[in-house]
Amino acid sequence: MLLAIASDHGGYKLKEAIRKHLAERGEKVVDLGTHSEDSVDYPIYGKACAEAVASGKAERGIVVCGTGIGISIAANKVKGIRCGLCTSVEMAEMSRRHNNANILALGGRTTDEELALQIVDTFLDTEFEGGRHKRRTDMLDEMI
Ligand code: RB5
Repeated sequence: MLLAIASDHGGYKLKEAIRKHLAERGEKVVDLGTHSEDSVDYPIYGKACAEAVASGKAERGIVVCGTGIGISIAANKVKGIRCGLCTSVEMAEMSRRHNNANILALGGRTTDEELALQIVDTFLDTEFEGGRHKRRTDMLDEMI
């Protein structure tokens, strides 16, 4: 799968761990930054990842900031994006099964690395159920 990843400084360390993990899984990754722990603005990185996914340049995305909140808000402002902030494996599973989330958001300061990588694997390996859930995600996609 071709994935776009992005973070601000608060998510940089976890984003780096995710990048290595994705490479070990054999996924193709486009890293949209940031590339250090120097302070940057999360809306820029959330938007970049969201535009990569919305345009089809990447199939899915993963974004990380300190809490995952700001960068998920940014990603969800781009039409066609359904970004879910997940703090558990169950949330990641449901974000795919029911919400067809195309971007996963994580908190680099709030979710430890081991759990975050389990969440990533679940996000990548779980399929959308469709059916009644498709009607609802279609309603979301019509909002912006
Ligand atoms: C940056 O200090 C922090 O505000 C950011 O990473 C994120 O947590 C915002 O939601």
